[in-house]
Amino acid sequence: MKTDRVKAVLEDLEKTLIEFMRKHNITHEEYRMATDVLLETVKAGEESLLYDIFFEAAITEIGNKAREGSPEAIEGPFYIPGAPRLEPPYVLRQRKNEAGDILFFNGRVVDRQGRALPNVEVDVWSADSDGLYSNIHPGTPDWNLRGRLYTDSNGWFEVRTIVPPPYEIPKNGPTGRVLTALGRHFFRPSHLHVKLRHTQFGEMTSQVYFRGGRYLESDVANAVRDELIVDLIRHDTTESLASRGLDKPYYEVRYDFVLSAANQLAAAME
Ligand code: DHB
Ligand code: FE
Repeated sequence: MKTDRVKAVLEDLEKTLIEFMRKHNITHEEYRMATDVLLETVKAGEESLLYDIFFEAAITEIGNKAREGSPEAIEGPFYIPGAPRLEPPYVLRQRKNEAGDILFFNGRVVDRQGRALPNVEVDVWSADSDGLYSNIHPGTPDWNLRGRLYTDSNGWFEVRTIVPPPYEIPKNGPTGRVLTALGRHFFRPSHLHVKLRHTQFGEMTSQVYFRGGRYLESDVANAVRDELIVDLIRHDTTESLASRGLDKPYYEVRYDFVLSAANQLAAAME
C-alpha cells in the first residue's frame, strides 16, 4: 500500500469515527467498553472472528465489483496456508471414521473464453461435523479436512470430504457477547472454503453454500450470495454407490470457476 493512500485512508477513518462519536454522544465509559472488547478478542484469539463477521463481506463485495470471473467470497478467520498437497484420487485428510455424510466436491476451472485451466491449485478447507476447524480448534487432528489438489488437463477437479454442518460462533467469548447485545443468532450456513491459485491469474478465494440449507438468509457474517449457492445432490441408487465403490449414500456438489484478468491484475499488484 502506498504511503499517501495509507495517510488518506487513516485520516478519513479517524475523522469518520470522531463524527460518529459526536453524533451519538459516546460517553467515556462506552468508549472504554469498546476498547476493552477489542482487547478481549485478542486475549480470546477472536480478533479476526469479530472483524470478519462484521466487515469482511463488505470488503469482498467491493473487490467483486471490479471482477469479471466468478465472484470471491470471504476468507474467514480459519484459513491456514501450507495444507498438505494431496495425490489423486483426492480425499481431504480426515479421521478413520470421520463423522458426517460423504461429499464429493467437483467442478471445472476455465478462463473467460471457457478454456480449461489445468494445474490450478485448489486449496479446500472446512469444519468437521462438530463445526470445528483443524489447527484452530483444540481436539482436532492436524490438517483435518484441509488439503490442496490440482485441476487435470480438462480443468476438472474432484475431492472427497464430508458435508459440513452450519458453523456456530462461540457464544461465550467477546464476539458472542457482541452478537447477544445485537440480538443476533450465532450461525453461518454450511459451507466449503476454497482458494484457487493459477500461475497467470493469481489467487482467488471463494466459498460454496448448499441450496435449501439453514441460515442462508441470515448468515451471521452476511456473506452469502446467490451465485455461490449450489445444489447438494444425494446419490443413493445401487448403481451410483457401485460406481463410487461405496456402501452408503453420498452427496455431490459441483461448482465451476471462471478465472479472469481481474485475478491477473491482483497478481501483478502483489
Ligand atoms: C467467519 C467465517 C467463516 O467461514 C467461519 O467458518 C466462521 C466465521 C467469519 O466471518 O467470522
Ligand atoms: Fe468457515
